[in-house]
Amino acid sequence: MAKMEVKTSLLDNMIGVGDMVLLEPLSEDSFINNLKKRFDHSEIYTYIGSVVVSVNPYRPLPIYSPEKVEEYRNRNFYELSPHIFALSDEAYRSLRDQDKDQCILITGESGAGKTEASKLVMSYVAAVCGKGAEVNQVKEQLLQSNPVLEAFGNAKTVRNDNSSRFGKYMDIEFDFKGDPLGGVISNYLLEKSRVVKQPRGERNFHIFYQILSGASEDLLNKLKLERDFSRYNYLSLDSARVNGVDDAVNFRTVRNAMQIVGFMDHETQSILEVVAAVLKLGNIEFKPESRVNGLDESKIKDKNELKEICELTGIDQSVLERAFSFRTVEAKQEKVSTTLNVAQAYYARDALAKNLYSRLFSWLVTRINESIKAQTKVRKKVMGVLDIYGFEIFEDNSFEQFIINYCNEKLQQIFIELTLKEEQEEYIREDIEWTHIEYFNNAIICDLIENNQTGILAMLDEECLRPGTVTDDTFLEKLNQVCATHQHFESRMSKCSRFLNDTSLPHSCFRIQHYAGKVMYQVEGFVDKNNDLLYRDLSQAMWKANHSLIKALFPEGNPAKINLKRPPTAGSQFKASVATLMKNLQTKNPNYIRCIKPNDKKAAHIFNEALVCHQVRYLGLLENVRVRRAGYAFRQPYELCLERYKMLCKQTWPHWRGPARAGVEVLFNELEIPEEEYSFGRSKIFIRNPRTLFKLEDLRKQRLEDLATLIQKIYRGWKCLTHFLLMKRSQIVIASWYRRYAQQKKYQRIKSSAIVVQSYIRGWKARKLLRELKHQKRCKEAATTIAAYWHGTQVRREYRKFFRANAGRKIYEFTLQKIMQKYFLEMKNKLPSLSPIDKNWPARPYLFLDSTHKELKRIFHLWRCKKYRDHFTDQQKLIYEEKLEASELFKDKKALYPASVGQPFHGAYLEISKNPKYKKLKDAVEEKIIIAEVVNKINRANGKCASRIFLLTKNNVLLADQKSGHIKSEVPLGDVTKVSMSSQNDGFFAVHLKEGSGAAGKGDFLFSSDHLIEMATKLYRTTLSQTKQKLNIEISDEFLVQFKQDKVCVKFIQGNQKNGNIPTCKRKNNRLLEVAVP
Ligand SMILES: Nc1ncnc2c1ncn2[C@@H]1O[C@H](COP(=O)(O)OP(=O)(O)O)[C@@H](O)[C@H]1O
Ligand SMILES: [Mg+2]
Repeated sequence: MAKMEVKTSLLDNMIGVGDMVLLEPLSEDSFINNLKKRFDHSEIYTYIGSVVVSVNPYRPLPIYSPEKVEEYRNRNFYELSPHIFALSDEAYRSLRDQDKDQCILITGESGAGKTEASKLVMSYVAAVCGKGAEVNQVKEQLLQSNPVLEAFGNAKTVRNDNSSRFGKYMDIEFDFKGDPLGGVISNYLLEKSRVVKQPRGERNFHIFYQILSGASEDLLNKLKLERDFSRYNYLSLDSARVNGVDDAVNFRTVRNAMQIVGFMDHETQSILEVVAAVLKLGNIEFKPESRVNGLDESKIKDKNELKEICELTGIDQSVLERAFSFRTVEAKQEKVSTTLNVAQAYYARDALAKNLYSRLFSWLVTRINESIKAQTKVRKKVMGVLDIYGFEIFEDNSFEQFIINYCNEKLQQIFIELTLKEEQEEYIREDIEWTHIEYFNNAIICDLIENNQTGILAMLDEECLRPGTVTDDTFLEKLNQVCATHQHFESRMSKCSRFLNDTSLPHSCFRIQHYAGKVMYQVEGFVDKNNDLLYRDLSQAMWKANHSLIKALFPEGNPAKINLKRPPTAGSQFKASVATLMKNLQTKNPNYIRCIKPNDKKAAHIFNEALVCHQVRYLGLLENVRVRRAGYAFRQPYELCLERYKMLCKQTWPHWRGPARAGVEVLFNELEIPEEEYSFGRSKIFIRNPRTLFKLEDLRKQRLEDLATLIQKIYRGWKCLTHFLLMKRSQIVIASWYRRYAQQKKYQRIKSSAIVVQSYIRGWKARKLLRELKHQKRCKEAATTIAAYWHGTQVRREYRKFFRANAGRKIYEFTLQKIMQKYFLEMKNKLPSLSPIDKNWPARPYLFLDSTHKELKRIFHLWRCKKYRDHFTDQQKLIYEEKLEASELFKDKKALYPASVGQPFHGAYLEISKNPKYKKLKDAVEEKIIIAEVVNKINRANGKCASRIFLLTKNNVLLADQKSGHIKSEVPLGDVTKVSMSSQNDGFFAVHLKEGSGAAGKGDFLFSSDHLIEMATKLYRTTLSQTKQKLNIEISDEFLVQFKQDKVCVKFIQGNQKNGNIPTCKRKNNRLLEVAVP
């Protein structure tokens, strides 16, 4: 803020006049005096409107510090004293804010300070544009490309110790925010003749001296160089050292810069190798050698240098040696080799050195561009900075000066077009009253040089391409024919006699009246330099080099790509690139810096008025001021003007509904701008004085601030109001909700209290009522009871005489009957299932019915058993009969019995009829077989067992051998008297026979069987049905049997566990047989 207060102006503390437009009176003298006065007070910059005139101070001035940068940053162009930073700032802001591509055109003669100015512009822009790591790297690379290019492309000349020997145009690219993205450098025609020869008092390009002074011993050895300048023919001796220049330090700066720009170490090394090779080429010398056939031939004097070059560049020595002694010309089919004489050999050597160096330089530019090019594809804004070699007049001027000066003519042309001519034409177009201002238009000179048919360049090309002998003299002759009549062309030889006696003009020269003065050109070398011829042998030798950089520099040396067409000449190439440049500049908004050199001595504080006057004249500065003064500093279409300033007047703000011009008129009247300050054109308003514009701008700025405040005010008011309203609404909502809630709470409390009170009252009322009702009820009941008792007494008293004695018995019987009735009816529903084994029976209801209940159960069981039996078939009946028989016989008598109940009685266990073994047996038995079973027959003598088939038929019991089926004994049933068995759980039984019967010879039979119960039962039943006598069945644990004559006691003892049911028998003695049973 403090800075804003020190508001300086162009007009404050002014030395002389800061803007020549304000100079009074305006004349050449006053103009020069003003410059001088300012120069003497270290004010080197002066404006002509928006053009900056810069006078070279030749000494460092303290006006480029960072503080100065800050001072000029974002300030109005005319606000501070004139400075190159003001112009840079204007251009940068216009680029950033108005989206206009800019170009900074820096002109002036050699040594006037163009290169310095261009660097100042770049450093200012770098200082004010965006910041950040990435942006800073881009800036650094852009800035550091300068020292690299200067080392290789600048040299000391008599005019300038650091003279650019190439033209440079650099496009710096910015993004929409104004941050630098990258850049593109274009270079124009390096003065390569300097590589092999320098005019007196001048030096070769800086890099040669820098390497020799600055390189370490080690690096020098690697490059096969020596530190001594005098060892090298290509370095002029008389000015090897330049005052105030330290080549060694600069070498380090350059290497550092190369690193920053992005050169790899191996690339830097290759570049230095090429530079060393160029330097050493100059030391190759040739001596003549005559051959027998009389042709001139040359030979390399000392091959050592050649050997070293070849080692450095990886070229085969013999190849290079041959390329220096022969020249091969290829025409369509033929190939002709001619030897080179000494002069031609030197020519070849120098051509090679020049080509190597200039191609290296172009490669460097391409390589730098690769590093600094913008990485993104977004739309870019461009600021071009043009620093091209200045107008040059030397003692000897050659092709290079011709080209350089042509370029300056073109620049002057574009200056004229964009400022003087265009401006005046616009006034006429816009119908503004205007008195024409005379100025010199150099278009005629440009035409002399570049005209496609009759221009000097076209003529030179024609000569170069023409068959036959072509020399510089034939070229001059041609010039003399064609251009003799041109106003700006002078020559002794021309038919026009104007210069026949002009001794200052030698015969071998022509002179051109440039816009900046007359320059005499030595015609010698024009053809060669335009041809820029390099023998194909040499380019092919270079292509063969084992050095990737050199190989890349000579692509045409590749035999596979031989091109017989001539390459374009140096002149036409230059003309084309200048034309492109001009086209490019025309699309951009130009900003001019016109540099003036105050003296020829490169000295500070010396102001050579004659020299400055000359420059002021040819630069057309005075005309520039006149046009500015007569004209209008500023113009703008009405629409834009109205749009920009309409807020300054009530009628036009915010909308103007009429034509824009009328609006502007109203606006200017309202603002009370004096009428002489502006004019109305057809489509534009013209403002005479920049000050008016600044006044408008200031008002606008002020008004914008007011408007911004207004907008802010309204916005803030609106914001506060909305906020307030919102708060208010919210407050109401909250309050209503809270009130509702509070009311609700209160209501609920009252409600519950009311309910409590109510319930108490109701309770009390109800209890009261209840008490009353109860009382009434009890009263009623009491009355009834009393009445009942009373009636009872009455009735009993009345009926006593009618009661009988047995009334009680009747009532008893009736009651009993009712109970029985009820019992039976209930019983009917509770009866259990019909299954005979169902044990269920309903519980007894009354104790006195106990016996009835049991009887009923028994009857029901019998009944259901009968029901069950009624369903039997005959066969089932038989089986049950048998089972019943068995039960009667054995139940509770024999322990074996219960186990047999579940077993069905099969009878015929042995199926005799089916087994063929027993066929005989079957045949022998005619009757129906009741039992067929295998039994153990116990030997009477020793008690041992033997298997027998036991058959029971209707009439007999048969015993047969089990194996053979042979019948062993046959006992008629009538002979069986008794069957005995134990009460135990065994299958032993004895069959007693009738004494004296046939079968009883051996005595009673003893058997043991698994089906004892069945057998005994069947035997019993069969006997009963046959003999009508009951078979005696004795169950006892001790009984007698008859064996022949003996009566033997069979005694059962407990103890046999082994054989299950099978008893073990032992004959103890004649009287006793022991049977062990389980
Ligand atoms: N603004 C300046 N301040 C100080 N010295 C300057 C300035 N401009 C130029 N010079 C001096 O003049 C010399 C020549 O300037 P330069 O820009 O190389 O000229 P040109 O490029 O026009 O040939 C510089 O080497 C420097 O010493
Ligand atoms: Mg320069």
